[in-house]
Amino acid sequence: METEIVYAEEEMAHEAISKAVRLLDDGEVVALPTETVYGLGANALDADAVAKVFAAKERPSFDPLIIHLATRESIHDYCEISPELNEVVQKLIQEFWPGPLTMVLPKKGIIPDIVTSGLPTVAVRMSAHPIMQDICQAFGKPIAAPSANRFGRISPTSAGAVLKELEGKIPLIVDGGACNAGIESTIVRVEVGKSRPELHLLRAGPVVKEDLQKIGKVIRPKKLTERARKALLEKQGEEGLNKPEAPGMLESHYAPSTPLYVFDKPEEFQPEEGMSYALLSYRGQAKDGYMELHDWDVVEELSPGKGKLGEAAVRLFHVLRMLDESGVDAIVAEPVAETGLGVAINDRLRRASQR
Ligand code: TXA
Ligand code: MG
Repeated sequence: METEIVYAEEEMAHEAISKAVRLLDDGEVVALPTETVYGLGANALDADAVAKVFAAKERPSFDPLIIHLATRESIHDYCEISPELNEVVQKLIQEFWPGPLTMVLPKKGIIPDIVTSGLPTVAVRMSAHPIMQDICQAFGKPIAAPSANRFGRISPTSAGAVLKELEGKIPLIVDGGACNAGIESTIVRVEVGKSRPELHLLRAGPVVKEDLQKIGKVIRPKKLTERARKALLEKQGEEGLNKPEAPGMLESHYAPSTPLYVFDKPEEFQPEEGMSYALLSYRGQAKDGYMELHDWDVVEELSPGKGKLGEAAVRLFHVLRMLDESGVDAIVAEPVAETGLGVAINDRLRRASQR
């Protein structure tokens, strides 16, 4: 199959949008821009179309998808929301939609099981990207879209990166420019709670804990250790992982092909003889302890100078791809400050890491 890229800027937007909608109507998959990362979209109400998303990504069927809505109100068409739950859901919508917040809520029967991997909940969000919004509006049905990368690999933040991941496997990529948040949406499972609403943080992202705390109590679900995960898989098979908290952890690596290491302290880095190393530096400053640690073959900085976490997030996956293609034997990544957006950046780095 030939993969076409259509530009969706200015006077070309209309044609790009109609092409995408036509393919979605025909039950095909299309790569679409969002403000976080590019998604691989299909009609969320058509199980056969959704199956093509899993096939193109080589994604295991037990890892559920996010559905993207055209309007705030349509959440009630796809989620079963009690009046008590609706209070907190509306607050989150007012504050963060459209934007990079995904809510996991009880689903309605209209959503096919393949979308949610059989879970009783569905993940929903409304993208802030104008082209994605136009496509959702014109299509008129929810669009199920995981990140448009092959399973386990780095999420794409440009049309070119999608092409590298999925060329020949999908008919169309809608090029809406570089993604301006750069890392995947924050995911919370929303619950009424006893005294305050509970927001179970399943994936850190651009909407940070400090923002969420204004609305409810932010709870970090306990992570399965790798050993516990393996034991569960052995004992109960894939079904064992089909628990609400588990799916978000399956993509436990956003991995480049080149091994990547995160060292909490620079001294932990012990270079091996004859190996070439790249440094993924936060701000390129010697005082952070990594720049002069080694005679690096390649150095890339996420946010040169004082270091801005927003800029680092936008560039993270792009720079990881560049380093992956640079031909070094291994990549060493500096962790960033563990505050605000830094939590999500460190999360992605650690999941990509070999240690
Ligand atoms: O920013 C984003 O969220 C991007 C753009 C394209 O919207 N999408 C994205 O999708 O990152 P994906 O499939 O790569 O990640 C979605 C995550 C998965 O880890 C999945 O396990 C989790 O959401 N998820 C989906 N439905 C869930 C559910 N019902 N309960 C718990 N986790 C769920
Ligand atoms: Mg993904």
